[in-house]
Amino acid sequence: MHVSLVGINHRTAPIEMREKAAIGPDSLHAYLHLLRRHLQHGVILSTCNRTEVYSTGSRAGDVDQACVDFLGNSMGLTESATTCFYVMSDRVALEHLFDVSCGLDSMIIGEYEVLGQVSQALEAAEKSGTVNLPLRRIFESAIRTGRRARNETGISRNPLSISSIAVNKALDIVDDIGRCKIVIIGAGEAGRLALRVASGRGAADMAVVSRTLERAVRITGTCGGRPVGPDKLAVELRDADIVIACAASPHPVLHHRQVSDVMNTRPQRPLIIIDIALPRNVEPDVGSIYNVHLYNIDDLNKLADNHRQEREAEAAAVKEIIAEEAEILMNWLLAYSARPAIKSLMVRAEKIRAAQYHNSIKKMASLSEEEKQHIDLLTRSIVDKILRYPILYLKEGGDADRMKSINRIFGLDDGKEL
Ligand SMILES: NC(=O)c1ccc[n+]([C@@H]2O[C@H](COP(=O)([O-])OP(=O)(O)OC[C@H]3O[C@@H](n4cnc5c(N)ncnc54)[C@H](OP(=O)(O)O)[C@@H]3O)[C@@H](O)[C@H]2O)c1
Repeated sequence: MHVSLVGINHRTAPIEMREKAAIGPDSLHAYLHLLRRHLQHGVILSTCNRTEVYSTGSRAGDVDQACVDFLGNSMGLTESATTCFYVMSDRVALEHLFDVSCGLDSMIIGEYEVLGQVSQALEAAEKSGTVNLPLRRIFESAIRTGRRARNETGISRNPLSISSIAVNKALDIVDDIGRCKIVIIGAGEAGRLALRVASGRGAADMAVVSRTLERAVRITGTCGGRPVGPDKLAVELRDADIVIACAASPHPVLHHRQVSDVMNTRPQRPLIIIDIALPRNVEPDVGSIYNVHLYNIDDLNKLADNHRQEREAEAAAVKEIIAEEAEILMNWLLAYSARPAIKSLMVRAEKIRAAQYHNSIKKMASLSEEEKQHIDLLTRSIVDKILRYPILYLKEGGDADRMKSINRIFGLDDGKEL
């Protein structure tokens, strides 16, 4: 059985392309449904750093191509965008997923959020009925590996987040944190983290703009700041110094016209906007407005580099856990692939044993029930012993060559009697 991964991430594709391939939690079910047109089984993992499709199948080329077609066609990516795809197979694909779940493949090494996103990807695929046993096992192993990495190493000790990098970058630019005004757009996890960091650094004037006001009320209740509805966004922007945009919206929520109007009322006062959402919340040409300093998630990448270097020793320890878990999973997958061959071998052997046993018993009419049972057990145990090594041989690798040689030796191809 072949494991396939096709994806696009922050290392292979620019933000413009990644945001086209991004699938929000609200549309994941619809995309899993679409995936079924290309593949019987698959799991889609879409985070702010990547969109990946994992699948399994018997023919490597076919599964890889189906994943490429799904990503390319369904996400409306151009032909040239497919050059940004990576295609990985079998152990390499598994180890990549483990890297992802452990936070080694993230912009912020060791980040916690991605482990939850791996769990949610499996959960969504389960609900859509696109998970088979090997994929379930692969994702469960990835989740276990991610937990082990965080429990057994310091990879996630004092974790950073994109939100904290964004807020810290903005606050490092302004002169007086206590007097600056911060507007956070989005009251989800990213908004909560941003608010907590801003509050921790001494920001006093913080507004959280949320489509659902209760969510803003909830986070401002614990971290400080004022909850605001989206209709008040323009008013809040008039005297803002910093905007952290982190709403999970598929379309921009901050437009050129809106920001331009605001800036015309305050031409000499700079506005720092950090857009960490993917797809982006802020129209890119907002960055061209005089005195607006716009950054997106990729602009924060360099700031994450120092953090990445600090975590190198921990990353090496995580890699050891990954190798160990990948070995266990590969052995399971090999044994799983060999199951049909093992089954047909056992069925064939049992058929022969049972026929020989009944033929012989008919000729030995004087045997008691106890003696018959004894012979029955004896023949079963002989068959088990004979099959032990061929079965182990198949379990070590359920590849086509091994199955072919076992079929040949035991005459499973052509129905020959032993
Ligand atoms: N979580 C992180 O640490 C993290 C890190 C880096 C980047 N990001 C990016 O930040 C964004 C938010 O992530 P999250 O984890 O905070 O998501 P989340 O917990 O699901 O929160 C989503 C927030 O966005 C709002 N929202 C959703 N659709 C909207 C729309 N059409 N218009 C306006 N607001 C809308 C939601 O409001 P309602 O309650 O009204 O739905 C909610 O306040 C995503 O683009 C994500 O890729 C997140």
